[in-house]
Amino acid sequence: MSIRLYIPIDSTALSLGAERVARAIAEEAARRGIDLGIVRNGSRGMFWLEPLIEVETVAGRVGYGPVTPADVAGLFDAGFLSGADHPLALGRVEAIPYLASQERLTFARVGVTDPLSLDDYRAHGGFAGLARAIGMSCAEVVQEVTDSGLRGRGGAAFPTGIKWNTVLAAAADRKYVVCNADEGDSGTFSDRMLMEGDPYCLIEGMAIAGLAVGATQGYIYLRSEYPHAFETLRAAIARARTAGCLGQDVMGSGRVFELEVRMGAGAYICGEETSMLESLEGKRGTVRAKPPLPAIAGLFGKPTVINNVMSLASVPTILARGAAFYRDYGMGRSRGTLPFQLAGNLRRTGLVEKAFGVTLRELLYDYGGGSASGRPIRAVQVGGPLGAYVPESQFDVPLDYEAYVAIGAMVGHGGLVAFDDRADMARMARYAMEFCAVESCGKCTPCRIGSTRGVEVIDRIVAGEQRGRNVALLNSLCDTMLNGSLCALGGMTPYPVQSALKHFPEDFGLVPDEDNKGA
Ligand SMILES: Cc1cc2nc3c(=O)[nH]c(=O)nc-3n(C[C@H](O)[C@H](O)[C@H](O)COP(=O)(O)O)c2cc1C
Ligand code: SF4
Repeated sequence: MSIRLYIPIDSTALSLGAERVARAIAEEAARRGIDLGIVRNGSRGMFWLEPLIEVETVAGRVGYGPVTPADVAGLFDAGFLSGADHPLALGRVEAIPYLASQERLTFARVGVTDPLSLDDYRAHGGFAGLARAIGMSCAEVVQEVTDSGLRGRGGAAFPTGIKWNTVLAAAADRKYVVCNADEGDSGTFSDRMLMEGDPYCLIEGMAIAGLAVGATQGYIYLRSEYPHAFETLRAAIARARTAGCLGQDVMGSGRVFELEVRMGAGAYICGEETSMLESLEGKRGTVRAKPPLPAIAGLFGKPTVINNVMSLASVPTILARGAAFYRDYGMGRSRGTLPFQLAGNLRRTGLVEKAFGVTLRELLYDYGGGSASGRPIRAVQVGGPLGAYVPESQFDVPLDYEAYVAIGAMVGHGGLVAFDDRADMARMARYAMEFCAVESCGKCTPCRIGSTRGVEVIDRIVAGEQRGRNVALLNSLCDTMLNGSLCALGGMTPYPVQSALKHFPEDFGLVPDEDNKGA
């Protein structure tokens, strides 16, 4: 039997040279007459170790990393194919504390299996959720999702079961499931990792959603920056259809669910659900006024379930293991787990799936290893470009949707971008306003005009022009954006701006209690 070796094919690993390493290993093995079975897996999410090569041994999968082509001959000489010691040896990969201490439910198979192997998927529990859903009524499946406490992972944290129930109850000749895979938030990559590392998990979640609400067609709306995910999804959908897990007779149930991937053109606003629908319909991505909700009149005017990749990929576990199993993770009204994405100035960036309730301090220091620069971490932007900057004094607040709202922040998609003490938070606030101005769909005035005026006002504050008056003006502008914008792009830009102003006034040239005084 040939020796089995795992080399990631995930975008992160590829960008760090995994393809060259794979070629070097295959060539070296051929030169030495060694028969190797190379599996191209997803990434385990420990990016500082990529490309992370794993060898299957009697003691389990042993890792080496980060491997460069120059290391390959030495690894063979040292006997890495039997798990021998080497300066790059990491021991048993699943025993590495970063991975071993996680609670991987959604990411249970990512990095473990061959992403396109249906046999691997089934061998690791895949399609058990869909099989159970087929034996249940639509209402029972929706109830199971409701009972799990799952809330939308794309940002707004709306209860998934309630959304599905609205679509189920809507009478129509055709219904849709749309997966929001636009993943435009800064510091987020969990959707991509899941789609590249375990595409059948998303496919299964969408098929369950389709059966649950009576939708016969699904679309995955993917961002154009994800060409690898696009290819993986297309190949996985074709194989799932051939195997009868999708199509005109889903797993012999007599029920129909077809699925397609559509590529967006790369605008942040196309992640907003109604803009996404416009884009999917072939139009320019601008926000639709609500009501009607997409659950009532969505894609082509039909009832549509719109969920984020992580929400849909959580569903197979919920159906396979039961609502109570999933609900047992988490705290308060934030149930289950969230794949946190560690980015920015950190020593160990990557993906950490944990139950809600973990703190920023644990994620930044226990997992992230502190800042890459070795300097104190001053602020973390949580939840994407519209998320607040959380200061060090709040690093112990548990990551829970409500606890974060209480401190004027948001958990959002679980992306964390860390900054050390050299970051200029006034510049970051300006950047947030500028981002809104650039990405605005232009439909409403507070966002379209307000963001441009916001940049100017911040410039005046930093330049020391009538500071008190301009701070009052900035706050008033933020208030108008918050309350007068049609969607959360304009409505949430005040979060990063005002959090920077509140927690880091000195960067604007203000003393801590000066922000509301006149000039
Ligand atoms: C400006 C803007 C950008 C958004 N971008 C995304 C995105 O990239 N991915 C996503 O899933 N949701 C995004 N959302 C949230 C979606 O509008 C929507 O709430 C979500 O896809 C619903 O799925 P969920 O309930 O599973 O979270 C965005 C919202 C706004 C206002
Ligand atoms: S808030 Fe901005 S992005 Fe949203 S609808 Fe208004 S103009 Fe468009």
